[in-house]
Amino acid sequence: MSGLIRLDSTWALDHIDAEEIDGEMREAALQFQLLVDRKGAGSEYTGWLDLPVDTPESVVARLEQVAATLREQSDVVVVCGVGGSYLGARAGVEFLEGVPSHLKTDSLPDILFAGNSLSSWQFRKLLDKLEGRRFSVVVISKSGTTLETAVAFHILRTELVRRFGTGEARKRIVAITDSQHGTLHDLARDEDLATFDLPRDVGGRYSVLTPVGLLPFAVAGLDIGSLLRGAAEQRAASLDSPPATNDALQYAVARRLLNASGKKIELLTSFEPCLHYVGEWWKQLFGESEGKDGKGVFPASAEFTTDLHSLGQFVQEGTRSLFETVVDVTAPAEVTFLCDADSPDGLAYLNGRNLSAMNHDARIGTLLAHHDGGVPVLQLTVPDVSESSFGAMVYFFEVACAVGGYMLGINPFDQPGVEAYKRNMFALLGKAGTEAEAVDIHSRLARHN
Ligand code: PA5
Repeated sequence: MSGLIRLDSTWALDHIDAEEIDGEMREAALQFQLLVDRKGAGSEYTGWLDLPVDTPESVVARLEQVAATLREQSDVVVVCGVGGSYLGARAGVEFLEGVPSHLKTDSLPDILFAGNSLSSWQFRKLLDKLEGRRFSVVVISKSGTTLETAVAFHILRTELVRRFGTGEARKRIVAITDSQHGTLHDLARDEDLATFDLPRDVGGRYSVLTPVGLLPFAVAGLDIGSLLRGAAEQRAASLDSPPATNDALQYAVARRLLNASGKKIELLTSFEPCLHYVGEWWKQLFGESEGKDGKGVFPASAEFTTDLHSLGQFVQEGTRSLFETVVDVTAPAEVTFLCDADSPDGLAYLNGRNLSAMNHDARIGTLLAHHDGGVPVLQLTVPDVSESSFGAMVYFFEVACAVGGYMLGINPFDQPGVEAYKRNMFALLGKAGTEAEAVDIHSRLARHN
């Protein structure tokens, strides 16, 4: 069984030490077994491995029912969360916009995202968009203490109460949070809000296949059953394939060997803009999972052909520190280019071509050029723009990331470094209990002035 996502590393092989491949694949298989046996670092956060097959039908049914209510009562649904409580949901909603299930759902509300920055400018624009429109809020926070999300939710809840009154406002909020603890958990219980549990054994960036992603997808009219089945197919492929045909493990090994050859940056690219937020989610997944103890490949993303006109020069001829991973997804649409033979713009040679055929040739041309320029290129093929492909892609990257993290000797499920800025920010904002840090910060700032 090969799964839905396929890797082609032939355009990177000349940068990889061939003698290392077998040993690294054996090591990847060992680390994968450790992961599956729940014996590696952070094993208490590996519940995501079974989400595609363990999510009860009753949860899927309730997600669909709550989503239908939200659609019914809203012109806009604001999804409020940050990091792992945001990017996966946005990646799926944007990747899958326009698929058949999405299109055939009646009365789709706009889905807007909040709680992912502290920009008052951005928030003002969001409030302007909500003016005069019926809205509801899905608030997502595992800890319930994340400042960006908590502040945005507070403002939105106040606005709901002002507009609709306390009782109606309650019906317009769904909270996705820890099943037992936390500020948001307590608030949801005290205010009798509709809730979905975020499993305790699943960390933020691995939570797309929980209600964190599934509820926004259902609100968008997407088929979440199909999405989970795609993830389950990829899961079966990962679990059942020997290393030689296990594309997720091969991807983990290819990244590792390219890193060993001096490539410090991985540029995730695609020729379909609908993958933009998949790139954002992927950056968090790999960046937050691997970037520890001075290790890890720096994850960056670009959107081609757009960024060939900005970053293309660097990729082709700049510092030779990056490799590229192209996500190739079949996403054709009937847009035929018609042009008279004597058209003054000189485009007659393209007459009758589909735009996607042009995009294909741009991709192949770029592959050849970047390879010629000394950039190793990995190619990942995603079958189509569909719920099942999205589910498979999420699972594929999660497995590759976790195995790659174990091969690096780090815990891919924690994020201790993220706390550093928060400590400083809370001290500057005057949060109780941070007085000593505040004194220290102010004296450091004074020395800089
Ligand atoms: O991957 C992670 O754990 C983080 O990105 C968190 O998801 C993010 O910080 C948001 O945390 P929370 O869901 O607790 O608000």
